Amino acid sequence: MVTSDARYNQGQIVLHWLVAAMIICMLALGLWMVGLPKESELPPGQESVRAFWFLLHKSLGITIAAFIVFRVIWRLTHAAPPLPASVPAWQRQVSSIVHFILYGLMIAMPLTGYLQSMYSKYDTKLWGVALPRLAEADAAARETFTDLHQILAYLFIAVLILHVGAAIKHRISGTEITRRMSLWK
Ligand code: HEM
Ligand code: HEM
Repeated sequence: MVTSDARYNQGQIVLHWLVAAMIICMLALGLWMVGLPKESELPPGQESVRAFWFLLHKSLGITIAAFIVFRVIWRLTHAAPPLPASVPAWQRQVSSIVHFILYGLMIAMPLTGYLQSMYSKYDTKLWGVALPRLAEADAAARETFTDLHQILAYLFIAVLILHVGAAIKHRISGTEITRRMSLWK
């Protein structure tokens, strides 16, 4: 059995779970809202709710980006607790690669979402306030970032399955690894 008392610090733990919950909600919201019918696809007189959910997705996404920046700064200034010596070298390597990819995706998702929105013909609004336009509308650039945002979303889900799978595996095999990030001691 792997045992160690080392845990992530409280700030890192709170940020991990807060950001994780927000991202999981955003992935679900994003996948659901793109299936909503556009105004032009509805019978005359029926109003589309698509724009409402898109605006909410954008505002939430920009807000989460602030938490993610804070999380990355926190991580850069606070090292991860050492893993117990009994954790094999390959597991250390795989977990650092997966964690690194997760940080990359956490940054890339809001960034590609924002760029896609910036190149669209609509203003990007943050909780109703239009943000300054940093570039002219460009249909080709918008499409590129829309595709990238979608591909990264699927990659995120795949890496998350791996990440959560590893946590469940550790839990089942009775190691103490998941305690390092648990909200309770
Ligand atoms: C969007 C969702 C999630 C993201 C982006 C995410 C991201 C991360 C990252 C980047 C780390 C490494 C922390 C560091 O060293 O700075 C980490 C650690 C960890 N995560 Fe997640 N996570 C998510 C969801 C989850 C879920 C749902 C679980 C559990 C079922 C979980 C369990 C853990 C555990 C136990 C650790 C500590 C691993 C260790 O001690 O080395 N995570 N997570
Ligand atoms: C944590 C951050 C984010 C996550 C996890 C996320 C996730 C997603 C997902 C899963 C989709 C559906 C992809 C598809 O199947 O086509 C989506 C679509 C979309 N996202 Fe995000 N997103 C994030 C941030 C943002 C931000 C910051 C913006 C803009 C400011 C944004 C704008 C959009 C738009 C406009 C679409 C619809 C694209 C289309 O027209 O097909 N997202 N997002």
